[in-house]
Amino acid sequence: MNVIQAVKVNRSFVNGKETSHVLKDIDLTVEQGEFISIMGPSGSGKSTLLYLLGGLDMPSDGTVSINGTDLSTLKDKELCSMRNRDIGFVFQFYNLVPNLTVEDNIALPLMIAGRKRSEYKDKLEECLEIIGMKDKRKLTPRELSGGQQQRVAIARALVFDPKIIFLDEPIGNLDTKTGIKLMELFRDINQKYNKTIVQVTHSESAALYGSKLIKLVDGQITSVEEITPDMKINTVS
Ligand SMILES: Nc1ncnc2c1ncn2[C@@H]1O[C@H](COP(=O)(O)OP(=O)(O)O)[C@@H](O)[C@H]1O
Ligand SMILES: [Mg+2]
Repeated sequence: MNVIQAVKVNRSFVNGKETSHVLKDIDLTVEQGEFISIMGPSGSGKSTLLYLLGGLDMPSDGTVSINGTDLSTLKDKELCSMRNRDIGFVFQFYNLVPNLTVEDNIALPLMIAGRKRSEYKDKLEECLEIIGMKDKRKLTPRELSGGQQQRVAIARALVFDPKIIFLDEPIGNLDTKTGIKLMELFRDINQKYNKTIVQVTHSESAALYGSKLIKLVDGQITSVEEITPDMKINTVS
């Protein structure tokens, strides 16, 4: 089943008299359970595409559908609740609240949605378990390493049990060893916890954790290829 479908998606930004045409006629289908890696040079439109696929931004032309619903047909409120329910985002710079504990950072989307602690207690435990940080629950972000902070951001993206997780350069700010550990976590989240993943990455070895590689150059898709086990063996050391 298609979870995301982009048809002839274009995105332009108007800045005074100048218009930059950042995405050009993007056609893209993401199926349930896939792990898509998007690679491309800096400025090629990767983040712009990711935000469009996740409903954080709207195309200038063309359509993005999630689970068969064209996002442009939704009212703001419907779009918001769809995003909360179906989608999780993880960014390069964790975006945690510095003075909240690990567990409150993770539960923040639930608190904002007005859920009671008793309702989300089990979900919080499960998310702490997935990221392996039960023993760090009372710490604040400044007491954590970069990799641990990103784990908290991952747990926060999982609290609503979304079907799709979007990752924008999730290991871009981390050392290689920490990056590998996080990629292994994303692989588990894809395979064990059955989440569809779309990631943007600069790293070829990180890209190869996915099941499909999409290359983006100057706002256009230049190639789409299945990632086969032999590609992983050749490149990941
Ligand atoms: N909100 C915006 N307003 C104007 N230009 C933008 C905006 N967002 C992105 N761009 C431009 O679109 C191009 C692609 O940006 P981006 O998607 O962030 O690239 P990437 O993630 O591949 O590095 C860049 O030239 C950037 O300056
Ligand atoms: Mg980017």
